[in-house]
Amino acid sequence: MNGKDFISISDLTPDRFEELISVALALKSGREGPDFKGKTLALLFEKPSLRTRVSFEVAMRQLGGESLYLSPQEVGLGSREPVADVARVLSRYVDVVAARTFSHAAIVELAQHSSVPVINALSDTEHPCQALADLLTVQEKKGRLRGLTLAFIGAGNNVAASLALATAMNGMRFRIASPGGYELPKAVQEKAQDFARASGGEVSFLREASEAVQGADIVYTDVWASMGQEAEAEQRRRDFEGYQVSEELLQAAAPDAIVMHDLPAHRGEEITDEAIEGPRSVVFDQAENRLHAQKAVLSLLLAK
Ligand code: CP
Ligand code: NVA
Repeated sequence: MNGKDFISISDLTPDRFEELISVALALKSGREGPDFKGKTLALLFEKPSLRTRVSFEVAMRQLGGESLYLSPQEVGLGSREPVADVARVLSRYVDVVAARTFSHAAIVELAQHSSVPVINALSDTEHPCQALADLLTVQEKKGRLRGLTLAFIGAGNNVAASLALATAMNGMRFRIASPGGYELPKAVQEKAQDFARASGGEVSFLREASEAVQGADIVYTDVWASMGQEAEAEQRRRDFEGYQVSEELLQAAAPDAIVMHDLPAHRGEEITDEAIEGPRSVVFDQAENRLHAQKAVLSLLLAK
């Protein structure tokens, strides 16, 4: 976001990240936000959504602006017409675009050809708005980020990738435990390592869930099969056996550990009902914080 867009956590610097968290906290505590009267956000979605769509729409409305939702059937990004044409057309009508796509390259291309800011509302490789809201939640619950250990149990997916980068950028210790074949992509691992070296954080890529949660301050999980991977769900249920966040697994975490999940959750798969409903779970605070974090993103991207 040193450029005009927010496509990846790597678009941020540590200072910019901190600024976003502090703007989000200020807006959440009632500080008056920017006036978006006359401004429109287009939500261009190829996949379903509850949190992302509603939090962006409500954010715009509360700041005096408007939003319009374009469903998967409507635009045909790259099929009904080229991504570059969609970008150039939308730029003539709206002030900012939030896109949820399968291919990450489609969002990158959209941003290249848009004259207005483009926000990644989830792609197959990253979910930066989620990671920002998550660290806002950690900041609120723990009073700091630096030095805390976040254990991610599950697939090295979009949510895990953004969290790895965000935690590493902020001097945290990131550990991920994934079964063989489901690790974070090498490029993400390397980038996270670079960020950790610069910030004084640490990153570990592990196999055993029990090793990852040892003494962790935060235990995080996400679905085993992401949107678009439904056909693999059965296979993944087998491959992810032993990667369920349960009360038993949580016993090895710090006594005051919090439990996080970006939602939607598949209770009985990646997390037990007991763990997600338990007193350490902060999943609905995370969901709420999407609103405040995205208001901060919109404020900085649309600041003139
Ligand atoms: N966590 C999240 O992005 O939820 P939605 O898919 O409902 O937007
Ligand atoms: N990894 C999940 C996150 C949903 C918010 C998916 O991509 O479906």
